[in-house]
Amino acid sequence: MTPEPLGFPAVWLRHNCPCPDCRDPVTGQRLLKITDIQNGLVATVTAQDDTEIAVTFAPDGHRSVFRRDWLAAQALAARDGGDPDPRTEDGKVLWRAADLPAPHTADWAAYSTDDRVRADCLDAVARYGCALLRGAPVSPGTVLKIAGTFGYVRETNYGRLFDVRVEPDPDNLAFTSREIAPHTDNPYRDPVPTIQLLHCLRDASAGGDTGLVDGFTAAAVLRAVDPESFGLLTGTPVPFGYVDKETELTARQPLISLSPRGRIAAVRYNDRSMLPLRLAGAEAEAVYAAIGTWARLLARPEFLLRLRLSPGDCVIFDNTRVLHARTAFEAPVFPGTGERHLQGCYADLDGLLSTLAVLRRRQ
Ligand code: OGA
Ligand code: ZN
Ligand code: ZN
Repeated sequence: MTPEPLGFPAVWLRHNCPCPDCRDPVTGQRLLKITDIQNGLVATVTAQDDTEIAVTFAPDGHRSVFRRDWLAAQALAARDGGDPDPRTEDGKVLWRAADLPAPHTADWAAYSTDDRVRADCLDAVARYGCALLRGAPVSPGTVLKIAGTFGYVRETNYGRLFDVRVEPDPDNLAFTSREIAPHTDNPYRDPVPTIQLLHCLRDASAGGDTGLVDGFTAAAVLRAVDPESFGLLTGTPVPFGYVDKETELTARQPLISLSPRGRIAAVRYNDRSMLPLRLAGAEAEAVYAAIGTWARLLARPEFLLRLRLSPGDCVIFDNTRVLHARTAFEAPVFPGTGERHLQGCYADLDGLLSTLAVLRRRQ
Protein backbone atom coordinates (compact mmCIF):
# COMPACT_ATOMS: atom_id res chain seq x y z
CA MET A 1 0.00 0.00 0.00
CA THR A 2 1.22 3.51 -0.82
CA PRO A 3 2.15 5.55 2.27
CA GLU A 4 0.89 8.77 0.61
CA PRO A 5 -2.45 8.02 -1.05
CA LEU A 6 -2.90 10.23 -4.14
CA GLY A 7 0.29 12.06 -3.22
CA PHE A 8 -1.11 13.66 -0.07
CA PRO A 9 1.11 13.41 3.02
CA ALA A 10 -0.47 11.64 5.98
CA VAL A 11 -0.64 14.84 8.05
CA TRP A 12 -2.61 16.56 5.26
CA LEU A 13 -5.13 13.69 5.11
CA ARG A 14 -5.45 13.51 8.91
CA HIS A 15 -6.00 17.28 9.20
CA ASN A 16 -8.74 17.14 6.57
CA CYS A 17 -10.59 14.08 7.87
CA PRO A 18 -14.32 14.65 7.31
CA CYS A 19 -15.56 12.22 10.02
CA PRO A 20 -17.92 13.59 12.71
CA ASP A 21 -15.20 13.31 15.38
CA CYS A 22 -12.88 15.56 13.37
CA ARG A 23 -15.46 17.91 11.86
CA ASP A 24 -18.72 19.07 13.43
CA PRO A 25 -21.51 17.76 11.17
CA VAL A 26 -23.76 20.73 12.00
CA THR A 27 -21.46 23.71 11.39
CA GLY A 28 -19.00 21.93 9.13
CA GLN A 29 -16.19 23.43 11.19
CA ARG A 30 -13.14 21.49 12.26
CA LEU A 31 -13.05 20.00 15.75
CA LEU A 32 -9.65 18.35 15.36
CA LYS A 33 -6.76 20.48 16.57
CA ILE A 34 -3.53 20.37 14.63
CA THR A 35 -1.73 19.92 17.96
CA ASP A 36 -3.54 16.57 18.33
CA ILE A 37 -1.77 15.22 15.25
CA GLN A 38 1.42 13.32 16.05
CA ASN A 39 4.56 13.83 14.04
CA GLY A 40 5.61 10.94 11.83
CA LEU A 41 2.04 9.84 11.11
CA VAL A 42 1.67 7.15 8.44
CA ALA A 43 -1.46 6.69 6.27
CA THR A 44 -2.39 3.44 4.57
CA VAL A 45 -5.23 2.89 2.12
CA THR A 46 -7.32 0.15 3.68
CA ALA A 47 -10.37 0.10 1.40
CA GLN A 48 -11.58 1.80 -1.76
CA ASP A 49 -14.24 1.74 -4.43
CA ASP A 50 -15.12 3.98 -7.37
CA THR A 51 -16.28 6.90 -5.25
CA GLU A 52 -14.50 6.66 -1.91
CA ILE A 53 -11.16 5.84 -0.45
CA ALA A 54 -10.58 4.78 3.18
CA VAL A 55 -7.34 5.51 4.96
CA THR A 56 -6.11 4.21 8.31
CA PHE A 57 -3.45 6.12 10.22
CA ALA A 58 -0.64 4.73 12.36
CA PRO A 59 0.08 4.90 15.20
CA ASP A 60 -3.28 6.42 16.33
CA GLY A 61 -5.46 3.95 14.38
CA HIS A 62 -7.87 6.69 13.20
CA ARG A 63 -9.82 5.89 10.05
CA SER A 64 -10.90 8.48 7.46
CA VAL A 65 -13.09 8.10 4.38
CA PHE A 66 -12.57 10.61 1.57
CA ARG A 67 -14.57 11.14 -1.59
CA ARG A 68 -12.37 10.58 -4.63
CA ASP A 69 -13.72 13.60 -6.51
CA TRP A 70 -12.99 15.85 -3.53
CA LEU A 71 -9.42 14.55 -3.30
CA ALA A 72 -8.95 14.97 -7.05
CA ALA A 73 -10.10 18.61 -6.88
CA GLN A 74 -7.70 19.24 -3.98
CA ALA A 75 -4.84 17.64 -5.88
CA LEU A 76 -5.49 19.91 -8.85
CA ALA A 77 -5.59 23.00 -6.62
CA ALA A 78 -2.29 22.08 -4.95
CA ARG A 79 -0.40 21.73 -8.20
CA ASP A 80 2.06 24.51 -9.09
CA GLY A 81 1.87 25.99 -5.62
CA GLY A 82 -1.89 26.39 -5.61
CA ASP A 83 -4.58 28.49 -7.27
CA PRO A 84 -3.66 31.98 -8.44
CA ASP A 85 -4.49 34.37 -5.60
CA PRO A 86 -7.61 36.23 -6.80
CA ARG A 87 -6.58 39.35 -4.87
CA THR A 88 -3.29 39.71 -6.77
CA GLU A 89 -2.41 40.53 -10.36
CA ASP A 90 -2.68 36.76 -11.06
CA GLY A 91 -6.44 36.86 -10.55
CA LYS A 92 -7.04 40.06 -12.57
CA VAL A 93 -7.38 41.22 -16.14
CA LEU A 94 -4.94 44.13 -16.40
CA TRP A 95 -5.95 46.97 -18.72
CA ARG A 96 -4.91 50.24 -20.29
CA ALA A 97 -7.41 52.85 -21.46
CA ALA A 98 -7.28 51.55 -25.03
CA ASP A 99 -8.19 48.00 -23.92
CA LEU A 100 -11.32 49.14 -22.17
CA PRO A 101 -13.34 51.80 -23.99
CA ALA A 102 -15.62 51.94 -20.94
CA PRO A 103 -15.93 50.10 -17.64
CA HIS A 104 -18.35 47.16 -17.63
CA THR A 105 -21.72 48.90 -17.58
CA ALA A 106 -25.07 47.71 -16.25
CA ASP A 107 -28.46 49.29 -16.10
CA TRP A 108 -29.71 49.77 -12.54
CA ALA A 109 -33.14 48.31 -13.26
CA ALA A 110 -31.62 45.10 -14.65
CA TYR A 111 -28.93 45.00 -11.98
CA SER A 112 -31.43 45.20 -9.15
CA THR A 113 -33.78 42.53 -10.51
CA ASP A 114 -31.56 40.06 -12.38
CA ASP A 115 -28.99 38.06 -10.40
CA ARG A 116 -27.01 37.33 -13.53
CA VAL A 117 -26.60 41.04 -14.35
CA ARG A 118 -25.55 41.70 -10.77
CA ALA A 119 -23.06 38.79 -10.81
CA ASP A 120 -21.51 40.02 -14.08
CA CYS A 121 -21.15 43.49 -12.64
CA LEU A 122 -19.49 42.25 -9.42
CA ASP A 123 -17.28 39.97 -11.50
CA ALA A 124 -16.13 43.04 -13.45
CA VAL A 125 -15.18 44.77 -10.19
CA ALA A 126 -13.29 41.64 -9.11
CA ARG A 127 -11.39 41.15 -12.38
CA TYR A 128 -11.18 44.63 -13.96
CA GLY A 129 -11.36 46.64 -10.75
CA CYS A 130 -14.34 48.76 -11.81
CA ALA A 131 -17.91 48.77 -13.06
CA LEU A 132 -20.49 51.41 -13.86
CA LEU A 133 -24.17 51.37 -12.95
CA ARG A 134 -26.38 53.64 -15.02
CA GLY A 135 -29.84 54.92 -14.28
CA ALA A 136 -29.90 54.50 -10.50
CA PRO A 137 -32.32 56.79 -8.65
CA VAL A 138 -31.16 60.40 -8.49
CA SER A 139 -31.88 60.74 -4.81
CA PRO A 140 -29.62 61.33 -1.80
CA GLY A 141 -28.63 58.10 -0.01
CA THR A 142 -28.96 55.91 -3.10
CA VAL A 143 -25.22 55.17 -2.90
CA LEU A 144 -25.83 53.33 0.40
CA LYS A 145 -28.54 51.26 -1.21
CA ILE A 146 -26.19 50.35 -4.05
CA ALA A 147 -23.46 49.28 -1.59
CA GLY A 148 -26.09 47.18 0.16
CA THR A 149 -26.67 45.14 -2.99
CA PHE A 150 -23.28 43.46 -2.56
CA GLY A 151 -22.00 44.13 0.92
CA TYR A 152 -21.87 46.33 3.97
CA VAL A 153 -21.16 50.03 4.05
CA ARG A 154 -17.91 50.83 5.77
CA GLU A 155 -18.57 53.83 7.97
CA THR A 156 -15.67 56.21 8.55
CA ASN A 157 -15.06 59.59 10.17
CA TYR A 158 -16.68 61.06 7.02
CA GLY A 159 -19.90 59.24 7.97
CA ARG A 160 -21.75 56.38 6.28
CA LEU A 161 -21.66 58.43 3.10
CA PHE A 162 -19.86 61.61 2.10
CA ASP A 163 -20.98 64.45 -0.12
CA VAL A 164 -18.56 65.57 -2.83
CA ARG A 165 -19.39 69.14 -3.80
CA VAL A 166 -17.87 72.55 -3.50
CA GLU A 167 -17.88 73.66 0.13
CA PRO A 168 -17.25 77.14 1.48
CA ASP A 169 -14.61 75.95 3.99
CA PRO A 170 -13.22 72.68 2.61
CA ASP A 171 -10.81 70.45 4.55
CA ASN A 172 -10.22 68.26 1.50
CA LEU A 173 -9.42 69.18 -2.10
CA ALA A 174 -12.27 66.90 -3.15
CA PHE A 175 -14.64 69.60 -1.84
CA THR A 176 -13.32 72.24 -4.22
CA SER A 177 -13.73 72.53 -7.99
CA ARG A 178 -10.05 71.78 -8.62
CA GLU A 179 -8.68 68.95 -10.69
CA ILE A 180 -7.81 65.87 -8.64
CA ALA A 181 -4.99 63.71 -9.99
CA PRO A 182 -5.27 59.90 -9.94
CA HIS A 183 -5.24 58.70 -6.34
CA THR A 184 -6.53 56.04 -4.03
CA ASP A 185 -8.75 57.12 -1.15
CA ASN A 186 -7.82 57.01 2.51
CA PRO A 187 -4.25 55.68 2.37
CA TYR A 188 -4.02 57.01 5.94
CA ARG A 189 -6.30 54.17 7.05
CA ASP A 190 -5.09 50.66 7.80
CA PRO A 191 -6.79 48.70 6.43
CA VAL A 192 -7.94 51.02 3.66
CA PRO A 193 -11.51 50.75 2.42
CA THR A 194 -11.17 48.24 -0.40
CA ILE A 195 -14.27 49.27 -2.37
CA GLN A 196 -15.38 52.79 -3.17
CA LEU A 197 -18.60 54.00 -4.77
CA LEU A 198 -19.23 57.42 -6.31
CA HIS A 199 -22.81 58.21 -7.27
CA CYS A 200 -23.67 61.28 -9.31
CA LEU A 201 -26.66 63.36 -8.24
CA ARG A 202 -25.81 66.38 -10.36
CA ASP A 203 -23.06 66.89 -12.94
CA ALA A 204 -21.12 70.06 -13.70
CA SER A 205 -22.10 72.08 -16.73
CA ALA A 206 -18.48 71.79 -17.85
CA GLY A 207 -15.67 69.56 -16.57
CA GLY A 208 -15.72 67.28 -13.57
CA ASP A 209 -15.09 64.22 -15.74
CA THR A 210 -14.01 61.03 -13.99
CA GLY A 211 -10.78 59.16 -14.73
CA LEU A 212 -9.79 55.63 -13.72
CA VAL A 213 -6.31 54.09 -13.82
CA ASP A 214 -5.46 50.40 -13.40
CA GLY A 215 -2.72 50.68 -10.79
CA PHE A 216 -1.78 47.00 -11.24
CA THR A 217 -1.00 47.63 -14.93
CA ALA A 218 1.12 50.64 -13.99
CA ALA A 219 2.91 48.66 -11.26
CA ALA A 220 3.62 45.81 -13.69
CA VAL A 221 5.06 48.33 -16.18
CA LEU A 222 7.25 49.84 -13.45
CA ARG A 223 8.51 46.37 -12.50
CA ALA A 224 9.44 45.74 -16.14
CA VAL A 225 11.10 49.07 -16.95
CA ASP A 226 12.56 50.11 -13.61
CA PRO A 227 12.93 47.15 -11.25
CA GLU A 228 15.05 49.21 -8.88
CA SER A 229 12.29 51.78 -8.29
CA PHE A 230 9.78 48.94 -8.05
CA GLY A 231 11.91 47.34 -5.34
CA LEU A 232 12.13 50.60 -3.39
CA LEU A 233 8.37 51.16 -3.58
CA THR A 234 7.48 47.63 -2.48
CA GLY A 235 10.05 47.70 0.32
CA THR A 236 9.59 51.15 1.84
CA PRO A 237 6.70 52.01 4.15
CA VAL A 238 5.33 55.46 3.30
CA PRO A 239 3.46 57.42 5.97
CA PHE A 240 0.09 59.01 5.19
CA GLY A 241 -2.02 61.13 7.47
CA TYR A 242 -5.31 62.96 7.84
CA VAL A 243 -6.09 65.41 10.60
CA ASP A 244 -9.14 67.49 11.39
CA LYS A 245 -10.83 68.59 14.60
CA GLU A 246 -12.22 65.15 15.40
CA THR A 247 -9.76 62.89 13.61
CA GLU A 248 -6.09 62.01 13.53
CA LEU A 249 -5.33 59.07 11.27
CA THR A 250 -1.94 57.77 10.18
CA ALA A 251 -0.80 54.64 8.40
CA ARG A 252 2.52 53.46 7.02
CA GLN A 253 2.44 51.09 4.10
CA PRO A 254 4.41 50.66 0.87
CA LEU A 255 2.97 52.34 -2.24
CA ILE A 256 2.98 48.94 -3.94
CA SER A 257 2.22 45.91 -1.76
CA LEU A 258 3.21 42.41 -2.74
CA SER A 259 1.57 39.14 -1.74
CA PRO A 260 3.59 36.60 0.27
CA ARG A 261 4.48 35.08 -3.10
CA GLY A 262 5.80 38.40 -4.42
CA ARG A 263 2.88 39.25 -6.71
CA ILE A 264 1.35 42.75 -7.00
CA ALA A 265 -1.46 42.81 -4.44
CA ALA A 266 -2.32 46.47 -3.72
CA VAL A 267 -1.37 50.00 -4.66
CA ARG A 268 -1.90 53.20 -2.76
CA TYR A 269 -1.15 56.69 -3.88
CA ASN A 270 -2.38 60.08 -2.79
CA ASP A 271 -0.22 63.19 -3.07
CA ARG A 272 -2.53 65.16 -0.83
CA SER A 273 -2.04 63.10 2.32
CA MET A 274 1.54 61.79 2.09
CA LEU A 275 3.52 62.73 5.22
CA PRO A 276 7.26 63.47 5.26
CA LEU A 277 9.27 60.32 4.70
CA ARG A 278 11.18 59.19 7.78
CA LEU A 279 14.36 58.73 5.80
CA ALA A 280 17.60 60.66 5.47
CA GLY A 281 20.34 61.33 2.97
CA ALA A 282 20.83 59.17 -0.09
CA GLU A 283 18.08 56.78 0.97
CA ALA A 284 15.52 59.59 1.07
CA GLU A 285 16.67 60.85 -2.33
CA ALA A 286 16.37 57.40 -3.88
CA VAL A 287 12.88 56.82 -2.47
CA TYR A 288 11.62 60.29 -3.49
CA ALA A 289 13.00 59.63 -6.99
CA ALA A 290 11.20 56.28 -7.14
CA ILE A 291 7.94 57.89 -5.97
CA GLY A 292 8.37 60.55 -8.68
CA THR A 293 8.87 57.85 -11.29
CA TRP A 294 5.75 56.08 -10.04
CA ALA A 295 3.68 59.29 -10.08
CA ARG A 296 4.80 60.17 -13.62
CA LEU A 297 3.93 56.67 -14.76
CA LEU A 298 0.47 56.85 -13.16
CA ALA A 299 -0.13 60.16 -14.94
CA ARG A 300 0.51 58.71 -18.42
CA PRO A 301 -2.55 59.31 -20.62
CA GLU A 302 -2.36 55.73 -21.93
CA PHE A 303 -3.51 54.48 -18.52
CA LEU A 304 -6.35 56.97 -17.97
CA LEU A 305 -9.81 55.67 -18.76
CA ARG A 306 -12.05 58.72 -18.99
CA LEU A 307 -15.76 58.75 -18.41
CA ARG A 308 -18.40 61.23 -17.48
CA LEU A 309 -20.87 60.49 -14.73
CA SER A 310 -24.40 61.69 -15.42
CA PRO A 311 -27.04 61.98 -12.72
CA GLY A 312 -27.98 58.45 -11.63
CA ASP A 313 -24.62 56.93 -12.58
CA CYS A 314 -22.56 55.15 -9.98
CA VAL A 315 -19.01 53.95 -10.42
CA ILE A 316 -17.87 51.08 -8.18
CA PHE A 317 -14.16 50.39 -7.95
CA ASP A 318 -11.46 48.48 -6.12
CA ASN A 319 -9.67 51.14 -4.07
CA THR A 320 -6.65 48.86 -3.58
CA ARG A 321 -6.09 48.70 -7.33
CA VAL A 322 -7.85 51.36 -9.40
CA LEU A 323 -6.92 55.01 -8.91
CA HIS A 324 -9.58 57.62 -9.55
CA ALA A 325 -9.32 61.21 -10.72
CA ARG A 326 -11.49 64.08 -11.86
CA THR A 327 -10.94 67.07 -14.07
CA ALA A 328 -11.52 70.60 -12.77
CA PHE A 329 -15.00 71.98 -13.22
CA GLU A 330 -16.81 75.26 -13.22
CA ALA A 331 -17.28 76.45 -9.66
CA PRO A 332 -20.81 77.33 -8.60
CA VAL A 333 -21.54 80.95 -7.82
CA PHE A 334 -22.70 80.16 -4.29
CA PRO A 335 -20.73 77.35 -2.63
CA GLY A 336 -23.02 74.72 -1.11
CA THR A 337 -25.70 75.32 -3.70
CA GLY A 338 -23.24 74.01 -6.29
CA GLU A 339 -24.23 72.27 -9.42
CA ARG A 340 -21.90 69.26 -9.23
CA HIS A 341 -22.85 66.85 -6.47
CA LEU A 342 -21.65 63.30 -5.94
CA GLN A 343 -22.25 61.05 -2.97
CA GLY A 344 -19.69 58.44 -2.11
CA CYS A 345 -19.30 55.61 0.35
CA TYR A 346 -16.95 52.76 1.10
CA ALA A 347 -17.46 49.03 1.34
CA ASP A 348 -15.22 45.99 1.19
CA LEU A 349 -14.00 43.69 -1.51
CA ASP A 350 -14.21 40.51 0.59
CA GLY A 351 -17.95 41.07 1.01
CA LEU A 352 -18.35 41.77 -2.70
CA LEU A 353 -16.50 38.54 -3.55
CA SER A 354 -18.69 36.63 -1.08
CA THR A 355 -21.87 37.96 -2.72
CA LEU A 356 -20.48 37.05 -6.13
CA ALA A 357 -19.66 33.49 -4.97
CA VAL A 358 -23.16 33.01 -3.54
CA LEU A 359 -24.82 34.35 -6.72
CA ARG A 360 -22.72 31.93 -8.77
CA ARG A 361 -23.61 29.02 -6.48
CA ARG A 362 -27.30 29.71 -7.22
CA GLN A 363 -26.84 29.95 -10.98
C1 OGA B 1 -13.32 61.62 -3.82
C2 OGA B 1 -12.93 61.98 -5.17
C3 OGA B 1 -13.71 62.61 -7.30
C4 OGA B 1 -14.77 63.41 -7.96
O1 OGA B 1 -14.27 62.21 -3.30
O2 OGA B 1 -12.68 60.70 -3.26
O3 OGA B 1 -11.85 61.66 -5.56
O4 OGA B 1 -15.16 63.03 -9.06
N1 OGA B 1 -13.85 62.61 -5.92
O5 OGA B 1 -15.20 64.41 -7.40
ZN1 ZN C 1 -11.72 11.82 11.66
ZN1 ZN D 1 -11.00 60.21 -4.10
